[in-house]
Amino acid sequence: MRVDIITLFPLMFKGPFEESIIRRAREKGILEIYLHDLRMFTHDKHRTVDDAPFGGGGGMVMKPEPLFEAVEKIRERLEPPPWVILLSPQGVPFNQGKAKELAGKRNIILICGRYEGVDERVREHLVDEEISIGDYVLTGGELAAMVLVDVVIRMLPGVLGCEDSARKDSFFHGGLLDYPQYTRPASFRGWKVPAVLLSGNHQEIERWRRRKMLENTLKKRPDLLERINLSRRERKFLEEVIDEYKVEKGRK
Ligand SMILES: C[S@@+](CC[C@H](N)C(=O)[O-])C[C@H]1O[C@@H](n2cnc3c(N)ncnc32)[C@H](O)[C@@H]1O
Repeated sequence: MRVDIITLFPLMFKGPFEESIIRRAREKGILEIYLHDLRMFTHDKHRTVDDAPFGGGGGMVMKPEPLFEAVEKIRERLEPPPWVILLSPQGVPFNQGKAKELAGKRNIILICGRYEGVDERVREHLVDEEISIGDYVLTGGELAAMVLVDVVIRMLPGVLGCEDSARKDSFFHGGLLDYPQYTRPASFRGWKVPAVLLSGNHQEIERWRRRKMLENTLKKRPDLLERINLSRRERKFLEEVIDEYKVEKGRK
């Protein structure tokens, strides 16, 4: 996968993109990242990328010309044509499903906004999609671009050490949250690891994990359960968990 990022602050990406899994994905050639400084697509002495909004009001707006030129120059060299994304609080919410969809693309261009955002003509005539990483306003699109790249690349084959890791994460088990994880020591400050995990009985361990996924989701994100298709057995399981949960809550 190739990702081209258009930004006013390319140095912001240095740390996050040169460490850990992203660095390894780049070294393995699974991921290519190109950072483009938007000021390189300006032609005036001051390398102007923003201007005051028509109609007045505070702040500055990113001008359309450098953004169009940047995307068009990058696009010229790419086949298949890149999917152009504007990071924006007004975009579709980013989630695991959207990440999976993007992981299927060969070329992506990410536009990082700044100031009061971009001229509306960029939104209307240059980008394929606007994506938001959450219902809050960041200072710029750079952190959002890093989040998006991080989530998407861990879904690409060969990126994670253990191929199964991503599929075992929260949101992958048919939309449920992950089960609790434990490692050595089996007893820490008197807090013991659940006995079933030490039993060696894989069927029982699987059952326990499935139950804990339902329990975790019920306790932490009950809204997710409304969107999930559960089997009859799991529904029964969930009803048991709900009953136990009610009893537990009643005790508190
Ligand atoms: C200060 S914000 C501008 C917000 C703009 N006035 C609005 O309300 O839509 C500057 C830039 O940060 C990025 N940004 C801010 N919040 C974001 C979010 N939740 N998700 C993705 N990008 C975001 C966008 O690229 C945006 O153009």
